[in-house]
Amino acid sequence: MRVRYPHLLSPFTLGRLELRNRAVMLPMGARYAVDGRPSDRDRAYFRARARGGTGLIITGGTLAAPSTTYADRRLFEPYTDSALPGFRDLVATVHREGAKIIGQIVHLGREIGAGDTDWAVIAPSAVASPASGQRQVPHAMTRDEIRDMVDQQARCAENLLSAGYDGIELHAAHGYLGGQFLSPASNHRDDEYGGSIPNRLRFLVETIAAVRARCGPDTVLGVRLSGDEGLENGLRAADSVAIAAELARSGVDYLSITTGIKGTYVPEIGTPHAPAAGVAAEVRRAVTLPLLVGQRITTPEIAERVLAEGAADLIGIGRALVADPDWFNKAARGEAARIRRCTGCMQECRNAIGGMACMNNPEAGRELTLPRLSRAARLRKVVVVGGGPGGLETAVVAAERGHAVTLFEQAAELGGQARLAARVPRRAELAGVIEPRRHDVARLGVDVRLGARAGAAEILAEAPDAVVLATGAVANRTGVPGGGLEHVRTLPELFEAGRPAGAGSAVVLDDGTGFWEAVGAVELLAEWGLHVDLVTPSQMVGANVPAESMPFLLRRLADRGVGCHRLSRPVSIEAEAVVIEELFGGRRTRLETDLVVTSSGKRAADELAGELRDAVPTLTLIGDCLAPRRIAHAILEGNRAGRAVGVLENRSTE
Ligand SMILES: Cc1cc2nc3c(=O)[nH]c(=O)nc-3n(C[C@H](O)[C@H](O)[C@H](O)COP(=O)(O)OP(=O)(O)OC[C@H]3O[C@@H](n4cnc5c(N)ncnc54)[C@H](O)[C@@H]3O)c2cc1C
Ligand SMILES: Cc1cc2nc3c(=O)[nH]c(=O)nc-3n(C[C@H](O)[C@H](O)[C@H](O)COP(=O)(O)O)c2cc1C
Ligand code: SF4
Repeated sequence: MRVRYPHLLSPFTLGRLELRNRAVMLPMGARYAVDGRPSDRDRAYFRARARGGTGLIITGGTLAAPSTTYADRRLFEPYTDSALPGFRDLVATVHREGAKIIGQIVHLGREIGAGDTDWAVIAPSAVASPASGQRQVPHAMTRDEIRDMVDQQARCAENLLSAGYDGIELHAAHGYLGGQFLSPASNHRDDEYGGSIPNRLRFLVETIAAVRARCGPDTVLGVRLSGDEGLENGLRAADSVAIAAELARSGVDYLSITTGIKGTYVPEIGTPHAPAAGVAAEVRRAVTLPLLVGQRITTPEIAERVLAEGAADLIGIGRALVADPDWFNKAARGEAARIRRCTGCMQECRNAIGGMACMNNPEAGRELTLPRLSRAARLRKVVVVGGGPGGLETAVVAAERGHAVTLFEQAAELGGQARLAARVPRRAELAGVIEPRRHDVARLGVDVRLGARAGAAEILAEAPDAVVLATGAVANRTGVPGGGLEHVRTLPELFEAGRPAGAGSAVVLDDGTGFWEAVGAVELLAEWGLHVDLVTPSQMVGANVPAESMPFLLRRLADRGVGCHRLSRPVSIEAEAVVIEELFGGRRTRLETDLVVTSSGKRAADELAGELRDAVPTLTLIGDCLAPRRIAHAILEGNRAGRAVGVLENRSTE
């Protein structure tokens, strides 16, 4: 049989390490640690990724010193002895699953908020970061402090190796401390640590030497390097090639090439895949060191292409492994279509509260409470109503557990509102929520009935043991006077109907939700060539859009000439205009328009619940039908509902 991904699946020797394949989990601080110690949650999370076939795991958020510690202490602190037993358990867990593990040591330097740490913020120079909203000026490190930091990092490396780690990576990218020394944008020193490339490299080269002195010549040692910071006065490809050549002489075993700084190094949905492959190829032409390259390598096809084109030796996969820990095994088994794809939405994984999660994979970070699925003890007949993200997840999970599942969907295709979400410009990858589940319901033999609106009679005719309502939500009509006029549409109406004939202008009225629905409508209308005004009571446009997406969104709105009216509310809608009023001061403006699109909240489409509550053994409401929110909630609740079939019986859960 033809091997689908011959490069990706082939083993690789990295220093003294034999890797079972070329797939490397990129470092990501997950924020599951407790008081700086790896937790049971970390172990379960990394175990799933190692078990999923990944050859090498690099742990991120592994902090170099107390001066880069967040007050909540939920990242790894390898400098404390009390963390070592946790590291030992973590390493043993990963090794048991056949993967190797490297610890990336990072100091955030000026990229930690002064309000987030109990320590003074430090950097090579007293220059505020352009990426920091607080514009705080850091303390410029003295030579003694630099030497201490070099030693501190080497001690962390020694500790990690003593816990069983297979190697060490030094973080010198993304505009964090190592990168701050390298970059002319942040290093303005006039001593031996600033100025020329060899001087800016001195901190890193001294750290490499210190790690070697403490840990020995055989230790696998890598450096993460920005191929291009994407800043006008920052590191560009030519600088990085020169730096890579110097590093090759300084005794490192591999380079991990990345692009961007804080705000851009985790590229969002709609941006190119494998953006660092080009600069990695340039570095590869200049040095013979093994190269690792990642960023938005979401499918095995992209990974294979990057390897086949010779841009790198190893493929780094970050969020795609959060979204699907079995990414590698599915690729190897020829089941790539089943991979739960990372959409690049940034909605859950960068969320600091509660630690890293994933919109598309509710089990990420919840491996202890949502463990691997097993066959149910009692097999049941389940009816799921609604084929949006929530209903699909319920159907897949229940069917995986062996239950007989029937899914009713009134539309002609699966996907629910997520289909509309994927019509927002640059957000087509949100279909990655639906497609793999569509494959799974087919594989698992779920009886999917499309174009079938289920009423109580149809549901009861199935004589189900359990019913899960995943019927979503209905957009509210605006209460603004004139809201009933013919040229007024709700958001779903706009997305379903497509381009309105003859309209040259539109006003979008956001109720302050500030999420993709409303700004997505603005973008769509602007893309269709309409002049658009956006009205919101918020201080900000897109107040709830993930931070990584905001600068790009605002630039696009500006480029399209969208009129943004913040801290404003609609007073009335007329046949050819909307009258708005500033919340403070009350000044009124009349916006001429052909079309009005309203975002006025949603109400749960839960009518069936009343009819079924006493008629079926078990009734569960999930997702927007329980309370209108987002895709992540629908999928999480769908997952729980699928698991609960046959377990929680004879009760209703709402
Ligand atoms: C334009 C737009 C953009 C969005 N962007 C995002 C985003 O970027 N990120 C995000 O997280 N969320 C986004 N959302 C919200 C998100 O899509 C919803 O929160 C999510 O889809 C809810 O999932 P669900 O499964 O609960 O319900 P839905 O997706 O609404 O699915 C419910 C399904 O049930 C079907 N149904 C209803 N009644 C019956 C019946 N009686 N019989 C048979 N079938 C029935 C419906 O046809 C529908 O397919 C967006 C929404 C819209 C409209
Ligand atoms: C939650 C989160 C935490 C991250 N933490 C780190 C880190 O500690 N060190 C690092 O070098 N990169 C970190 N990254 C960046 C990733 O390593 C990776 O470069 C980035 O996510 C792009 O790759 P991807 O598209 O495969 O996710 C983090 C990314 C995420 C999403
Ligand atoms: S939350 Fe979105 S960007 Fe983050 S891992 Fe999941 S799908 Fe990818």
